[in-house]
Amino acid sequence: MRSIILAIESSCDETSASVIVNGKVLNNIIATQAMHQKYGGVVPELASRAHQQNIVAVIKEAMDDAHILPTDLDAIAFTRGPGLLGSLLVGTSFAKGLALALDKPLIEVNHMQAHVLAHFIDDPQPAFPFLCLTVSGGHTQIVLVEDHLKMKVIGETQDDAVGEAFDKAAKIMGLPYPGGPLIDKYAKLGNPKAFKFSQTSMPGLDFSFSGIKTQFMYFLRDEVAKNPNFIEERLNDICASIQEHLVTMLVSRLEEASEQTGIKQIAIAGGVSANSGLRNRLNGMAPKKGWNVYIPAFEYCTDNAAMIAIAAYYKFRAGDFTGLDVTPLVRMPI
Ligand code: KG4
Ligand code: ZN
Repeated sequence: MRSIILAIESSCDETSASVIVNGKVLNNIIATQAMHQKYGGVVPELASRAHQQNIVAVIKEAMDDAHILPTDLDAIAFTRGPGLLGSLLVGTSFAKGLALALDKPLIEVNHMQAHVLAHFIDDPQPAFPFLCLTVSGGHTQIVLVEDHLKMKVIGETQDDAVGEAFDKAAKIMGLPYPGGPLIDKYAKLGNPKAFKFSQTSMPGLDFSFSGIKTQFMYFLRDEVAKNPNFIEERLNDICASIQEHLVTMLVSRLEEASEQTGIKQIAIAGGVSANSGLRNRLNGMAPKKGWNVYIPAFEYCTDNAAMIAIAAYYKFRAGDFTGLDVTPLVRMPI
């Protein structure tokens, strides 16, 4: 069955559009909102306003680049949730308006499911069942993926997300937002064993990242009291050590999940899957553990509409459409 779908992502601070034709992603246009940097985090009100300013140009670019006319579309897909309400409203309303005007079906996509399905944009693709560690600024989940549209969360954070832990650690050191990529950059030049932090234990396959944030804050406070230049002098070692700690927390849970389920197809997704410490650790462990490790291209790790497009393609094939009365969901379980 022919399928030409326009997908829209606006859950947080990236306005993105993608056109997918018969399961092949043709483009992935992203407008990033830089203004949040000076506030040290995403300001929801500014994010939704920026989505409104960017959305027409981003969608037009995706359509023009794909040489697709609005009348050629078979469906319009959008991120329904989870995300920031004002941000989600922009993409959702735009998709609804377009679907109404063109009389085309609508497809709602769960942002977290889309992060997992980013693995099906390009080859190699994981075989079912596989485990996906979905790690972003808002989520930390271990997902058991049985099929494209059949997945369940078997472990998740009980407080902060790991991306938040990276960003907060960076903020405490005075680095700009989002600090995750900067910690990654400086960590490459540092010694990951320079400083040790203690692990918090959680039941089952769940995570907790609020303890490490406090631990890290007190660690720096004590070191800076002894040497006011501690952060500048040891920045690389501090970044390498905190990254090592966070990666170990993630990977040890993933090892347990693999042992419990017997699944050795291991994937990572979400913004933090761009982290080179996590990528290197998983690739290094793979032969020893007998794992096949799947890591998405950088472009598909952080928020993007290509992952919404691929998720929409599978929903289109399944005939899973949404009514025009749909509203965004700030929380939306997988
Ligand atoms: O998936 P994403 O783009 O947005 C959410 O849905 O949250 O993830 C953004 C998060 C931020 O916390 C950012 O600091 C983190 O991903 N991140 C990284 C790296 N690249 C992005 N964290 C560590 N290392 C990186 N290289
Ligand atoms: Zn995301």
